[in-house]
Amino acid sequence: MISKPPISECFVYITLPGVVAAVTAGKFVLTRNTRGDALGRFVYGQSYLKNPHAVEIDPVQLKLLGRTYETAQLNGVFGALRDAGPDYWGRRVIEKHAGKAQLGELDYLLESPDDRAGALGFGLNSTPPAPRRNFNKTLDLEKLQVLADALVNDELPNDPDAQQVQELMLLGTSMGGARPKAVVQDEDGLWIAKFNRPDDRWNNTRVEHAMLQLARACGITTAESRVETIGGRDVVLIKRFDREKAPKGYTRARMVSALTILRADEAPEMRMRWSYVLLVEELRRIVAHAKKDAHELFRRMCFNALISNIDDHPRNHAAIAKENDWKLSPAYDLTPSVPVSIERRYLAMDCGDMGREATAENILSQHARFLLERTEAEKIVADMKTQVDATWYDTVRASGVSEKDAETIRGAFVYPGFSL
Ligand SMILES: Nc1ncnc2c1ncn2[C@@H]1O[C@H](COP(=O)(O)OP(=O)(O)OP(=O)(O)O)[C@@H](O)[C@H]1O
Ligand SMILES: [Mg+2]
Repeated sequence: MISKPPISECFVYITLPGVVAAVTAGKFVLTRNTRGDALGRFVYGQSYLKNPHAVEIDPVQLKLLGRTYETAQLNGVFGALRDAGPDYWGRRVIEKHAGKAQLGELDYLLESPDDRAGALGFGLNSTPPAPRRNFNKTLDLEKLQVLADALVNDELPNDPDAQQVQELMLLGTSMGGARPKAVVQDEDGLWIAKFNRPDDRWNNTRVEHAMLQLARACGITTAESRVETIGGRDVVLIKRFDREKAPKGYTRARMVSALTILRADEAPEMRMRWSYVLLVEELRRIVAHAKKDAHELFRRMCFNALISNIDDHPRNHAAIAKENDWKLSPAYDLTPSVPVSIERRYLAMDCGDMGREATAENILSQHARFLLERTEAEKIVADMKTQVDATWYDTVRASGVSEKDAETIRGAFVYPGFSL
């Protein structure tokens, strides 16, 4: 068999539980098979395998059971590595910085700064760089907001050396997602700052903050958040649950998205795998407390239906590991929408026998996979429905959402078709 030379390779670093500096976990090589399809190979380093504190990179494809792993899925990039890379927003920033569009998959990993989600890092040296200790401060948010606006409006110079473009790179580029955001630190730790966009139909930042509170009132574990007004505009700060402040930096939790847990990506043919029912099955295999997390996922699916969060795609769910054990991460990115139909709404993932239909009947149809008796599941749905119905308005208003915006999003909550 004649194999073509590798197109790219890099070292993969990991910050082990409880410490702030990374070690080298192994090497990732992206090659092509004889048919020309991308093939990814990850090899755990010998010294890493001998390290008594070593942990698996992910609980799906890169367990510590073997040394070498290969994948032809997802353009050869293992899901856990993809999760550590930038998404739509970060890619735009990096393309500006590199002065060109359409970089290779590894370029995005190597070009992004070390503020990425999870515990991994990437580089060309066999030893990792010193951990990054300084991030933008919350005080810098006004400047960051101006830069984010300029990128959204395509007003930045096409010059990688321009100071603005350089500064953009410190915005929190490696975090996923499509909305403009930055990573900032204060005395409590690291936060993701999410900005409003000029074309938003309502004050997204305040609504996002309110949804996290409403979810908490529905018994869901969520990321902590607060809203700040910077230069007359609102910014929502979401506390990072994958970083904890330590005396000499930050400890890091490993993190994999539900996209990785489902062995899927965003390609249309992979959407069949976008499913809460499949996800709960997979989660039960990898988390330490299966029943607890299965019940929690059931509540999140129900909550998303009750607030018409149709952007509940698998990158908006994740599992994390602070120590050895994996668990469902706190909930994040909960956004209501107001589709035209008041009878039929669909989540982004299958939630029962009727596919993606966001109805109580559908959500209840696979209750056993969520380790719930039918009556228990019915009670959860009924209680959450009452809670959302009774408190959504006061919750959004108390979070500073205007009366006008509250009316604009009214149709998102407990839409008539939910219980028909
Ligand atoms: N509190 C948090 N701690 C750590 N990582 C987080 C946290 N919140 C979000 N993330 C990670 O950052 C990514 C982007 O965040 P988020 O989903 O809020 O952004 P977004 O731009 O609104 O996304 P989308 O494209 O789904 O609209 C998430 O997919 C997740 O990997
Ligand atoms: Mg998201």
